[in-house]
Amino acid sequence: MLLVATPPAWTAQAVERFDEVLVDHAHCEKKAAAHALSMLVAFPQVPGLPRAMARLAREEAGHLGQVLALLEKRGLFLGRDTGDPYAQALQAQVRQPARERLLDRLLISALIEARSEERLRLLAEALPDAELRDFYARLAASEAGHHRLFLRLARNSGGGDFQPRLDALLAVEARLIRELPVRPAIH
Ligand SMILES: [Fe+2]
Ligand SMILES: [Fe+2]
Repeated sequence: MLLVATPPAWTAQAVERFDEVLVDHAHCEKKAAAHALSMLVAFPQVPGLPRAMARLAREEAGHLGQVLALLEKRGLFLGRDTGDPYAQALQAQVRQPARERLLDRLLISALIEARSEERLRLLAEALPDAELRDFYARLAASEAGHHRLFLRLARNSGGGDFQPRLDALLAVEARLIRELPVRPAIH
């Protein structure tokens, strides 16, 4: 679905500075769990959304626990969240009227999950450690499911606005991938 692939420079840096990527990854899973609950709080009236978000929050919290265990094993600490310029720039695209806000938040969630899936899969292919490769392959498959979930919810709530808005946000996402500096982080 995404319009551009991650540049090879990202993968090379992520393998070289994997400890930093792992700390950022823990923060991503933490934000994904919190985000699922915030969607439930913001849109309790949307059919199917509260239960899907409750399930997603639990799954993301499970990922968080697994990444935190890896941090501990490597003697690393979670520390402060330094923020995610990519996700912040996407979230700045959310329009404010209620119906548009729902559609935009669902579509942006779908895009972030899709990009995360691509990057976790790149780690699953490039990391030298076989156990970590398996771990990232499992997580990538799980993010693919999340991407499809958000897309389905967006299609159901977006009506005729769904496809044009998806196309517009895909273009913004591609521009961000091309323009933002490569960091030792998931995004
Ligand atoms: Fe996750
Ligand atoms: Fe996810």
